Amino acid sequence: MRKLIAGNWKMNGSIAANDALVRAVIAGMAGADCSVAVCVPAPYLAQVQMLRHGSALELGAQDVSQHEQGAYTGEVSASMLKEFGARFAIVGHSERRQYHCESDAVVADKAKIALAHGITPIVCVGETLAEREAGRTEEVVKRQLAAVIHANGHCISEIAVAYEPVWAIGTGRTATPEQAQQVHSVLRAQLKAATGHSERIHILYGGSMNAANAASLLAQPDIDGGLIGGASLKAADFLQIIAAACVARA
Ligand code: PGA
Repeated sequence: MRKLIAGNWKMNGSIAANDALVRAVIAGMAGADCSVAVCVPAPYLAQVQMLRHGSALELGAQDVSQHEQGAYTGEVSASMLKEFGARFAIVGHSERRQYHCESDAVVADKAKIALAHGITPIVCVGETLAEREAGRTEEVVKRQLAAVIHANGHCISEIAVAYEPVWAIGTGRTATPEQAQQVHSVLRAQLKAATGHSERIHILYGGSMNAANAASLLAQPDIDGGLIGGASLKAADFLQIIAAACVARA
């Protein structure tokens, strides 16, 4: 299976910075034996869609509305994302769960509407530090994923999942490969039970993945790629992670 490396730019970028970053990534990833995407702020979808034209770089959004259309000021619909070439949409990122009060049910609806429009939702799950220390990691990630499985039935085989321990996001504190693998194997078993077959769904790791630690994380049997925040904003770092994913291809 080809690994998937997805950049999550979060609320960063400018027309000039995006231009330089995307051109450098495309030049550096030529011939890469893994899938690469960048999930960009919605206003830049059109710019990056043009920049990526003719390359293997895929485009993604960082969120999607759970509604089809209508009076939802500030929201961006799945059909709009699709019109601008989005192949992926991150849903349920912990920053959205935390700062925008997104519940498991809302995240499940977002995944559903993305799938209905042919967009692969990258469903984020992950525990807080307090939950980990209370021994509740498995319970939390299974509950978050179960909501998405419940809402999406057999379509679940079309999603991607990102395990992002909240305590590792943007903190420089990464889960050890063993800690990440442990949770990934739990998620793999849950997905396998839900789909009823062994077809692999990408399970990405996210949380301070960088050029130095990517290889050991991506070498784990159930880590199928990465969702990269800070390190996706520097072409050299992002390209090193992409190179590690190509080497680690299972
Ligand atoms: P980070 O962010 O790599 O900066 O920790 C990852 C994410 O939040 O997707």
